[in-house]
Amino acid sequence: MRVGLGTGTTMAYALEALGRRVREEGLSFAGVATSIATERTARRLGLPLVTLAEAGRLDMAIDGADEIDPQWRLIKGGGGAHTREKIVAAQADRFVVLVDESKVVRRLGSAFPVPVEVVPLAVRPVTEALQRLGAAPTLRADEGGAPVCTDQDFHILDAFFEGGIENPEALGRAIRNIPGVLDHGIFAGYTTDVLVGDETGGVRTLAKGA
Ligand code: A5P
Repeated sequence: MRVGLGTGTTMAYALEALGRRVREEGLSFAGVATSIATERTARRLGLPLVTLAEAGRLDMAIDGADEIDPQWRLIKGGGGAHTREKIVAAQADRFVVLVDESKVVRRLGSAFPVPVEVVPLAVRPVTEALQRLGAAPTLRADEGGAPVCTDQDFHILDAFFEGGIENPEALGRAIRNIPGVLDHGIFAGYTTDVLVGDETGGVRTLAKGA
């Protein structure tokens, strides 16, 4: 199989588990990493990697999420990797989302901002355009106060929408239309499977519309 490998702290567990199965069971697949961080981890664990260009269409992609709503729409990008993650998800026949209960929400954006990846010189106009869409955007910064750079060397605006997001698809389209925006962390229409883990090690599936 050709498998997209997502990014984040949840995916780190999945990568470890895949590494174990490669070592112990000879599990064989070609992984496509969604970030430099995931690429490094996969290499350390001995997971076989190919580029997206080499892989073409993927059988499956696996990834975490910052929020998931009952329609299986997501906010992603807490780790700043959402642009590559969305490209990979869009190439996959199945998109499997791994979350814990804290990520399952009634309404997207209630607690988490929408990460927006921006060309550095466009930070100010994009900030103002997001404000006109009703957001309170902040430029993501590191501990020293410097703007965070993504794998594409772009910056991230975290756009918080007070009260949550009424129409994630429409908001996603509006944000994509702002000149200077590379992509945002709203994922609608990609998810095909959801696994919710709990702290005892149990896993349940989340039914769509539940
Ligand atoms: C990476 O940018 C993100 O999209 C992550 O997949 C998402 O934020 C979930 O991350 P955690 O598993 O670390 O919460």
